[in-house]
Amino acid sequence: MAKSSTKQQPGNAYSAGVASKDSMLKSFFEDELKDIYWAEKNIVKTLPKMKKAATSEKLQQAFEDHMQQTQTHVQRLEQVFEILGKKAQAKKCDAMAGIIEEGKGIIEETEKGTATRDVGLILAAQKVEHYEISTYGGLAQLATTLGLEDVANVLKQTLEEEKQTDVLLTEIAESDVNYEAAGEEE
Ligand SMILES: [Fe+2]
Ligand SMILES: [Fe+2]
Repeated sequence: MAKSSTKQQPGNAYSAGVASKDSMLKSFFEDELKDIYWAEKNIVKTLPKMKKAATSEKLQQAFEDHMQQTQTHVQRLEQVFEILGKKAQAKKCDAMAGIIEEGKGIIEETEKGTATRDVGLILAAQKVEHYEISTYGGLAQLATTLGLEDVANVLKQTLEEEKQTDVLLTEIAESDVNYEAAGEEE
């Protein structure tokens, strides 16, 4: 106990619930914003490819709609950087790069025009959404901790849209794509 307290610098406002202007937490927060900014920008590029690869019209439409939404997500992050007085900067997000790579692999490994490919695309898309949901959920919480309520509100708007997209993808899978795929022979 005594050891860890020596690391604490005097004046760190733990009690206020708001980190000091240039706290370690704030720079960590800004770093994570750069990560999700990279992710969103790359999702904008990936969604048209997913739409093109999809067969179900509902799924194509869902990818189209979410592509438009994702452009807004990019803009919202730019708005957040602006509020923070920082330049909008992207930093490669290895996790999202991996999920996108996996999605490409699914397209390569499945046949065009099959519901099986659609199942794969939905699975890949839901991994993207879940990554975003956990990121925005955590970042909105951190923004509140840092006393940045306006930033938290912007992040929460995107969080809600990611959640809705995830639900929509589940609905498309459950309502027809999965059953159709189950009937496809090799
Ligand atoms: Fe997004
Ligand atoms: Fe998303």
